[in-house]
Amino acid sequence: MSDPVIAQKSPYMTELEVGKDYFWCSCGKSAKQPLCDGSHKGSDFAPVKFQVETAKAYALCGCKMNDGKAFCNGAHKQL
Ligand code: FES
Repeated sequence: MSDPVIAQKSPYMTELEVGKDYFWCSCGKSAKQPLCDGSHKGSDFAPVKFQVETAKAYALCGCKMNDGKAFCNGAHKQL
């Protein structure tokens, strides 16, 4: 599997709504960071679907180095 593109070396604070399907960009090529715009097509990557249970701003991963998870886990601090 190829390495993802580092969209940015910090999370994207993103307001999310309850009950809505979101698709986090795992390839790093989306122009709509941190969410998917279809740019992964033809690559090894696929977007990660998720929902939230509370409406608020979440720190979504921008570095794409967090083992394919949508939420920032601090992995960007190692870059
Ligand atoms: S931005 Fe990727 S782990 Fe924080």
